[in-house]
Amino acid sequence: MNRHLITVFSLLLVCINVLPVINAQKTKKPAVSTNNVTYYKTLGASKKVALLMTKLTIDEKIGQLNLITPGGTVTGEVVSKDVESKMKTGKVGGIFGIRGAGKVRQAQELAVKNSRLGIPLIVGMDVIHGHQTVFPIPLGMSCTWDMKLIEQSARIAAREATADGIMWTFSPMVDIARDPRWGRISEGSGEDPYLGSRIAEAMVKGYQGTDLNDPTTMLACVKHFALYGAPEGGRDYGTVDMSKLRMYNEYLPPYKAAVDAGVGSVMTSFNVIDYVPASGNKFIFKDVLRKKWKFNDLVVTDYTSIMEMMEHSTGENMQEVASQSLKATIDMDMVSEGFLSTLKKSLDEGKVTVKEIDNACIRILMAKERLGLLDDPYRYFDEKRAETEILSAENRAFARKAAAASFVLLKNENNILPLKKDMKIALVGPLADSRRNMLGTWSVSGDHEKAVTVLEGIKSLATSTNNILHAKGANISDDKDFARRVNVFGEEIVIDVRSADEMIKEAIEVAQKSDVIVAVLGEAADMSGEASSMTDISLQSSQKKLLAALKTTGKPIVMVLYNGRPMVIKDEMNDVNALLDVWFGGTEGGHAVADVLFGDVNPSGKLTTSFPVNMGQIPVYHSMLNTGRPDSGNQSKFRSNYIDAPNNPLFPFGYGLSYTTFEYGKPVLSSQKLTKGKELTISVNVKNTGKVAGHEVVQLYIRDVVGSIARPVKELKGFEKIYLTPGESKEVVFTINEELLKFYNETLEYKAEKGQFNAMIGTNSVNVQSVTFYLE
Ligand code: NOJ
Repeated sequence: MNRHLITVFSLLLVCINVLPVINAQKTKKPAVSTNNVTYYKTLGASKKVALLMTKLTIDEKIGQLNLITPGGTVTGEVVSKDVESKMKTGKVGGIFGIRGAGKVRQAQELAVKNSRLGIPLIVGMDVIHGHQTVFPIPLGMSCTWDMKLIEQSARIAAREATADGIMWTFSPMVDIARDPRWGRISEGSGEDPYLGSRIAEAMVKGYQGTDLNDPTTMLACVKHFALYGAPEGGRDYGTVDMSKLRMYNEYLPPYKAAVDAGVGSVMTSFNVIDYVPASGNKFIFKDVLRKKWKFNDLVVTDYTSIMEMMEHSTGENMQEVASQSLKATIDMDMVSEGFLSTLKKSLDEGKVTVKEIDNACIRILMAKERLGLLDDPYRYFDEKRAETEILSAENRAFARKAAAASFVLLKNENNILPLKKDMKIALVGPLADSRRNMLGTWSVSGDHEKAVTVLEGIKSLATSTNNILHAKGANISDDKDFARRVNVFGEEIVIDVRSADEMIKEAIEVAQKSDVIVAVLGEAADMSGEASSMTDISLQSSQKKLLAALKTTGKPIVMVLYNGRPMVIKDEMNDVNALLDVWFGGTEGGHAVADVLFGDVNPSGKLTTSFPVNMGQIPVYHSMLNTGRPDSGNQSKFRSNYIDAPNNPLFPFGYGLSYTTFEYGKPVLSSQKLTKGKELTISVNVKNTGKVAGHEVVQLYIRDVVGSIARPVKELKGFEKIYLTPGESKEVVFTINEELLKFYNETLEYKAEKGQFNAMIGTNSVNVQSVTFYLE
């Protein structure tokens, strides 16, 4: 071979062998070990959690991401399998749906004593409106407009739940809801983002207190992130589609308020957001929650929602949807076991990274550390606490007070209420003596046997029990199929052996012997709540018939309405002399109804959802846009209105009567000009002009008259609940600053815009007095 050729050949060989090495040396980054304390700390772990992470195998890390339920309290169609062996082998990070300090201790022991590293479980439960002492349903609680009371209700719930072995509640639910067909409207705080945000903060504070390490406080979980309360047609789990502006300005604020208040966990929702299921939605979790809102704590899916992504058709198999979910920064998988069964495979195939699994695992372990579980796995299982702290007389007294405060008086013709304690009362209706229905939906730990019925409450305050004549009068519904669908958690709708006519006859007889009829009507507890959407939200025909018959007696009728949603009650409004909406008042509901009917407590609740005139009006809410052809009030042609019904609801947001009357003075502004960085005040004098003491919720609404985008006709921007004795007056002062006037504009910047604003003060969202100021 030619020497030259040999040289060229040798050089080539050298290049082939050596150059890659030189290049590699040039580009190779210094090796980073990803299994040491320092590294895990960069991912947000504390020293203790980082140390623990160094010891975990990848399978054990994935195990932490798994949340199971053994089915103690069923809240979905699927229940976890092989629970015990999974707990023993480190395949479970948390459990929910069991309670009782002793019982939960046993579960904890399985994990701590048998799994390789003995990492304790986090134990969750739906503690929604109280634990064993049940308070009014959340929609009712919101009608108190009393943030201290709401915070205290969550505080008591946390005390009871932690004494029962639970350290994580799936509450507060802060989904804004404007469609009463959706049964879960009962679980939230109504239609308004400002009020919803204040309630979200109060609930988080109540559950978590100032120190999560205190074993009487618990981790809260704001849900359902996001937009769950706006499903099409009000069908639960249904499709949600809304503009970013509506999302940012009206639906996201309460979740954000909970995050800003330090909520320790967030739950995903079942719906799609921009066509992507929430549990795999990068926009809502990565961009909004993690990046914008800087939330670096635990995110858990809702029940089987990873699995359901296949039904949403955004993934072919569990592996695909589970990896989508992890990549959207979801940490814990409730019941689907998609993480447990597929993440290892996805890791091996390069579809997810160890870092993504580490991040999720760290956030779960950090929650456990905040709760003190890593120091003492058994700190929530002191059985003695349960004896003194659960359903205590004190808690029941609070429940009675909270229930009475949640009731909304909708009508009181000729001051028929309060009733005198020595009156002869015909107490009729299917809910008058129905213990089973008193607690309302989502009271999984409440025992209805401990609840007080209206009959018991009334009898306990009446001068003589002989004056109280009771008759059922009607079934909640006569429809057997409907009853079967409602009665999944127990016999809430009991269809009597007697015929409708026989029951009505008996009711008429007792009515004729009485001075007044108190008709306790409405929904069964689980006609609202999860999976309880309805297309007809008026009173069931069995009860309509009863009411019509009672009317023929000519006796005055006081209607007490049990409901988990705003109902269509236009006809009933005309038929009755007084109407008290009592939602579902919880354990002490029956006592509280008596307190209010007899005037021991003056009602002060105000609606937090508008009551539609009819079904066709839905959605109807106070903060709508004006449109280019606003309603003129007289149903005229070529206006944005109906020709067969008004635009206004039957009862507006903020509405509620009292046994006394309040007179509002003229609202006074401290200045007509608001300069950036400064404040102005608007004050109003409110006087109790009636004969009894009472609470009034003074409300402030603001309209941004001209904006770069269309602005609502009014938005709630402040409220104060005051107490006035007869003749007493108080000046209520609201402070207005630039912050209060901000909104998300077309480019999603959060800004206030200069110009004219109307500030409206009043007793509800319609009855207001307006003054004008300008932001300069
Ligand atoms: C499904 C519900 O949507 C959610 O609110 C609840 O917390 C979970 N089930 C757990 O029970």
